[in-house]
Amino acid sequence: MSHDLWEQAKTLFAGGVNSPVRAGVKPFPFYTKSGKGPYLITEDSQRLIDYVLGYGPLILGHAHPKVIEAVKEQIDEGWLYGTPSKTEVELAKLIIKYVPSAEKVRFVNSGTEATMTALRISRGYTGRDKILKFDGNYHGAHDYVLIDAGSAATEFGVPFSQGIPKEVVSTVVICPYNDLECSEKALRRGDIASVIVEPVMGNMGVIPPKDGFLKGLRELTKEHGTLLIFDEVITGFRLGLGGAQSYFKVIPDLTTLGKIIGGGFPIGAICGKREVMDSLTPSGRVFNAGTFNANPISMSAGIATIRELESGNVYVKTEKAATELAEEIDKAIRIPHVVNRVYNFFQFFLGVDRVENAADARKAKRELYVRAHEKLLKSGVFIPPSQFEALFTSSEHNDDIVNESISKFKSVLEDLV
Ligand SMILES: Cc1ncc(COP(=O)(O)O)c(C=O)c1O
Repeated sequence: MSHDLWEQAKTLFAGGVNSPVRAGVKPFPFYTKSGKGPYLITEDSQRLIDYVLGYGPLILGHAHPKVIEAVKEQIDEGWLYGTPSKTEVELAKLIIKYVPSAEKVRFVNSGTEATMTALRISRGYTGRDKILKFDGNYHGAHDYVLIDAGSAATEFGVPFSQGIPKEVVSTVVICPYNDLECSEKALRRGDIASVIVEPVMGNMGVIPPKDGFLKGLRELTKEHGTLLIFDEVITGFRLGLGGAQSYFKVIPDLTTLGKIIGGGFPIGAICGKREVMDSLTPSGRVFNAGTFNANPISMSAGIATIRELESGNVYVKTEKAATELAEEIDKAIRIPHVVNRVYNFFQFFLGVDRVENAADARKAKRELYVRAHEKLLKSGVFIPPSQFEALFTSSEHNDDIVNESISKFKSVLEDLV
């Protein structure tokens, strides 16, 4: 039972968990026994319709047969060689085929490693130390980006993590999201190596870029000799095969990927212009390495996932499910609120009438959101326990699942005051 496991976990792990957002499920986290299609099955035998989907990677739902088949086949052949394997060539080719900015790729094991490495490349390539990031953007759990970070860093009240040297903090310039004026002012100083941005903010709830914001960043960075990094760990292969850069038609110099490209297995990737990527060791002097880089299991799961995405149907289904849900949620809530949706992911904010940056998101009535989360959980629907995460849909969220979800959302949200 979840309660017994939680009692043990509290003595084993800081805060009882291995990633902070998981502790947000009150009074204690449910423990998952299995996942299948759109469902999670808990250790308490509750069946939940899942809109968290591993925080984004599972665009095909849980335990997709094609991914199972690919991983099983790979396991029979061994799973770690310490040498290159065919799988990495195949997955890199798919990424380069679809992601416009990608001419070369480096595989790592998490989104955190991807952004850490992309920032290092930008510093090595330009010879500059500073970077610009946006308030509320979350780029993983390394020192250079845990400054005004969103996601669990904001949820648990540590947008500035302890333990980061002040010398590191002094190299990071922060601007509000969607604020080109601030970015221009910072870039004009001529000492910024790169601007790193979530092309859709998915870590303070969902916040779309305003018209012209991404294009403006592209022009400004070009003008000032600064590299533009799109952190597409969430949006890569979610907003279509070409990610946010195809969706918004703005091409960065470097892109970081993760989540979907590993089909639910640990992964990260940095890709971009050949000349910039060649800064990496062994061709260049910017160091990156990893025992598990390009491990054949993650590669195989990623290939199987992207092949399934190529059929096209997945995007139609995920967009339909997200649109219908977001519209019905919007209609059901009777207090001031905002529903921000981009294509197939979204979030709702209560007690506010616009959310265009992190400061707006922080004004939302989080206690009401948490109450909605708790009631939905009791009724069999799992949405993120934190306001500062996103709801995702998968190809397994068919009409029946969506209709069942809508009636549950309605009965919870109509009563919120
Ligand atoms: C935009 C973005 N970048 C980077 C990361 C870090 O990825 P990981 O958790 O795989 O380290 C995340 C994680 O949610 C993310 O949403």
